[in-house]
Amino acid sequence: MIQETREQFIHLFEKEPLMVVSPGRINLIGEHTDYNDGFVLPAAIDKKIVYAIALNNTQQCNVHAVFTNETVSFSLEEVKPTPGWINYLMGVVYQLQERGLPVQGFDCVLAGDIPVGAGMSSSAAVEGGLVAALDHIFAYGLDRMQMALIGQKAEHTFPGVKCGIMDQFANLHGKKDQVMRLDGRSLEFEYFPFNFPDYKIVLCNSMVHHSLASSEYNVRRQQCEEGVKAIQANHPAVKSLRDADMNMLNEVRAQLSSKVYDRCNYVIAEIQRVQDATALLKKGDLQQFGELMYATHEGLSKLYEVSCPELDFLVSLARERKEVAGARVMGGGFGGCTINLVKADKVEEYVSFIKSRYLDQYGKEPEVYVTIIEEGVSIID
Ligand code: GLA
Repeated sequence: MIQETREQFIHLFEKEPLMVVSPGRINLIGEHTDYNDGFVLPAAIDKKIVYAIALNNTQQCNVHAVFTNETVSFSLEEVKPTPGWINYLMGVVYQLQERGLPVQGFDCVLAGDIPVGAGMSSSAAVEGGLVAALDHIFAYGLDRMQMALIGQKAEHTFPGVKCGIMDQFANLHGKKDQVMRLDGRSLEFEYFPFNFPDYKIVLCNSMVHHSLASSEYNVRRQQCEEGVKAIQANHPAVKSLRDADMNMLNEVRAQLSSKVYDRCNYVIAEIQRVQDATALLKKGDLQQFGELMYATHEGLSKLYEVSCPELDFLVSLARERKEVAGARVMGGGFGGCTINLVKADKVEEYVSFIKSRYLDQYGKEPEVYVTIIEEGVSIID
């Protein structure tokens, strides 16, 4: 894909581009915890966005997207929220301009194989790839965390999703065969190997496009803030759900709607689960780790309400199978993928089981991706 994208760029723009590879991500556990100052356990994967990009000595940016086969142009003098995929690029350019970093016109070809709306963070990959490309071209000297924060701000201000930092972080910090535990509060992180040669990471795409995701995502965030506010009246030191425990939440139960209570209940438990899960992973206990993934799914489905019947069905199928250590909905939810840890020698059998049962139930075949953990954004000079 890298070579093809480069050739297409040369064909369209008649010069040599800079190539940037920008991956999607998985998250093993720790969902909807990042914006509550909690922990997450993501990794970058082999699904990616590819940029071919070069300056054009104008104040105009021309972007050709291979997946829609269209070229969209915008002027650097008029960068504002705009419908469509170009919004993600314009958001990044706007954030760079806001910080006084120089941006000049560029031509670019954008290709990729991250399914959109599948919970694998195609948007963070678009953002992170462009920040890294422009940082390289203009020698801004940004570090990777600064780049991630710029991508996150772009997402907040242009598409308007008040996302946490996990996706942009994972996209820019990934390392081959390593998972990362990120502290959403301090932004400190550690790498450790995901060393389970007997298991594969299998993503099952429900093919439900998570269109509710942005509006409902922001609602979840507000509900968590509402819970924190109530707890703060008794415990002023509590700044986020990271600082809260179930006792504190139960003290204010009567003041909260049952939905807000359930949301906070899930998040408090999930933040602890990531800690427990990390310890299990370091011990090599994938079976117990998998049980925690199922517990996360239960919480995301019943308490946080970001699952859907199709995703619940995929997880119930996983539960029937001995070769699966654990499974759950991954990412923001409302559609997209489940992540499954599956015995390597049984993957084929599992995939055909999932496909046929899902087809019977919903009349459509889920796409399945057996994925591997890869490097974060890479510049190919
Ligand atoms: C989306 C957001 C992340 C995170 C997940 C849920 O992917 O971009 O910041 O909140 O949802 O864990």
